[in-house]
Amino acid sequence: MAQITASVYTSHVPAIGAAMDLGKTHEPYWQKVFAGYEYSRQWMKENTPDVIFLVYNDHATAFSLELIPTFAIGTAAEYTPADEGWGPRPVPKVMGHPELASHIAQSVIQQDFDLTIVNRMDVDHGLTVPLSLMCGPLGPGDAWPCPVIPFAVNVVQYPVPSGRRCYQLGRAIRKAVESFDRPLKVQIWGTGGMSHQLQGPRAGLINAEWDNRFLDRLIAEPEALAQVPHIDYVREAGSEGIELVMWLIARGAMSDKPPTVKHRFYHVPASNTAVGHLIMENNA
Ligand code: DHB
Ligand code: FE
Repeated sequence: MAQITASVYTSHVPAIGAAMDLGKTHEPYWQKVFAGYEYSRQWMKENTPDVIFLVYNDHATAFSLELIPTFAIGTAAEYTPADEGWGPRPVPKVMGHPELASHIAQSVIQQDFDLTIVNRMDVDHGLTVPLSLMCGPLGPGDAWPCPVIPFAVNVVQYPVPSGRRCYQLGRAIRKAVESFDRPLKVQIWGTGGMSHQLQGPRAGLINAEWDNRFLDRLIAEPEALAQVPHIDYVREAGSEGIELVMWLIARGAMSDKPPTVKHRFYHVPASNTAVGHLIMENNA
């Protein structure tokens, strides 16, 4: 049977991708961000899974106001990095895992979550920046270390899903993975966040105290954390801080036993965003 071995949580700031692609990682500003991922890249090499189930949000790249799926699972064989502002990132294309993705779609829909099945889509910084942070600089001629199942969550256009629903969805995903009849090691990643607001009178908002409490609670009391209403995210962590509900999907997919926290990092600023990062291993 397949199993979820670990979960990874990280911000997805697009300027991090641009810093890597334009050779700026050694500038003092960026050094402080990348220092937080040195351990993670080594850990990733030593713990390469068979598949990454990557929960992220699309930023009007694959979807637009014409079509807004709340939860969309990628069942394609491959995904092309998208053109977004700085141009398409010079990173490897993302190989999918259609068999496991289709199985998860089947299982999760039968567990009463309505997923949108996506057979073709491009992927933006929401997906490629976490991969670059965890796997290091890779060019278009390289390959990511394993296949990826993109799982896009609408946290851009209201109404967005609640933390509670995201957490419960994570549990359904765990059940789905554990019922796949092949011995695959699967990591689940929750991405986006932490506090940030990109527009309006409060643009630039960062709330380090709230972010760190979120990290504490994600580790120790995720079920209680999942009860936090979306208005609290917006008020305390900014309009884009709502991206954090995606972390609850990954946390919900972990075992009921307390996880082992392998790494924790928090840094302000990266572009307009607080960067948060956790690695948790499952204790089955
Ligand atoms: C920034 C952060 C985001 O999450 C995003 O999607 C775009 C920009 C920023 O900090 O600049
Ligand atoms: Fe974002």
